[in-house]
Amino acid sequence: MYEPEVTKDIINIGVDDRKITKFENQYDLPDGMAYNSYLILDEQVCVVDSVDADVTDEWLANLAKYLNGRDVDHIIVQHMEPDHSGSLATFAEKYPNAKIHTSAAALNMMKQFFEADFSGRTNIIKEGDTLKLGAHELQFIAAPMVHWPEVMMTYDKTDKILFSADGFGKFGYKGAEADDWACEARRYYFNIVGKYGAQVAAVLKKAEALEINNICPLHGPVLPENEPLEFYINKYKTWSAYEPEDDGVAIVYASIHDTGTKQAAEKLAELFEAKGIKTGVTNLTEDDLHEGVEDAFRYNRLVLCASSYDADVFPPMRQFLNVLNIKTYQKRRVGLVENGSWAPTAGRVMKQYVEGFKEVQLAEPMVTIKSALKPENISQLEALVDAMLA
Ligand SMILES: Cc1cc2nc3c(=O)[nH]c(=O)nc-3n(C[C@H](O)[C@H](O)[C@H](O)COP(=O)(O)O)c2cc1C
Ligand SMILES: [Fe+2]
Ligand SMILES: [Fe+2]
Repeated sequence: MYEPEVTKDIINIGVDDRKITKFENQYDLPDGMAYNSYLILDEQVCVVDSVDADVTDEWLANLAKYLNGRDVDHIIVQHMEPDHSGSLATFAEKYPNAKIHTSAAALNMMKQFFEADFSGRTNIIKEGDTLKLGAHELQFIAAPMVHWPEVMMTYDKTDKILFSADGFGKFGYKGAEADDWACEARRYYFNIVGKYGAQVAAVLKKAEALEINNICPLHGPVLPENEPLEFYINKYKTWSAYEPEDDGVAIVYASIHDTGTKQAAEKLAELFEAKGIKTGVTNLTEDDLHEGVEDAFRYNRLVLCASSYDADVFPPMRQFLNVLNIKTYQKRRVGLVENGSWAPTAGRVMKQYVEGFKEVQLAEPMVTIKSALKPENISQLEALVDAMLA
């Protein structure tokens, strides 16, 4: 059972949206999404971040319930992205005495997103600034480009809590049944934050100097959940350094008619598994592309299989490779399988992408299939498996 109380006077008044099916209009949400917001009940009352506009009413009701008649003195806007600040203007109107603490860059964005006039009630915060609420003293930590430019994290020096904005967030509502923190946190991390590994590593370094009991992210559960806190921090260290997390192979394929390309991908999975190698298979025409991105970063190896299409590659594969490129895919071994019925071209296009990735080894030779998988292709796939494992 998920408890909103983080400590005796810090409460997660956020909202679990169990109905939403896509985050940012593109990431599949089989278990909805959590938008957290934290209320600190001290001599002065402070709210850390609001929520998505879609769940404003439920959030304001949670807030009123825990305020129990008190007013709000401060709201900290760590991040201006609408999934956390969509309710800010409504909140600001309802709580006119609440001072808004935010970075200079976030204040600029606030003016871009809202018509409302916040002048006379804002306080610009920067790295190292503090805010004393009574027993609690908060200190601000700049987290530029994790994953927006204006992000500030907040450290409660009293309870030793790091409010980590989108850092350590995940998809899914809190307490979802099939919950596995790393699985949905990894898909969230690589697809949403993944491009900014260096910036995440810089914040982790700053966090190392702090004593931390709990991490309070804006999505997902307060940490630690089922593992010690180091487990989550170590995952972030691995991910932000683009180091593989597991020994295995991601197989990602795009097949037009589910003939040779799909057959090759399935055969490859069978061959790797027969050798005791873990596989993660993504069918780009059926599965969430972002699961493929997650697995590509999770494992140390990736095999791409795609059919040719108008002297190019079947577009779902181009889209996948575009995303890997944006997320600075690197430090892996990659193998290629192309298919075509007259003049296969998919391999050439995939190879161009792979050659542009940093520290990626291309396993040779590429396998070419003509329409359907033939016995001679199977020995070629076996050779590719050996090259991937060499
Ligand atoms: C719109 C379209 C364009 C295609 N363009 C090419 C092409 O440029 N070169 C080629 O060799 N095959 C081309 N093909 C054929 C497929 O790549 C080929 O039939 C492949 O074997 C399909 O395997 P799959 O069902 O596993 O995707 C094209 C097929 C379609 C439907
Ligand atoms: Fe964000
Ligand atoms: Fe977010």
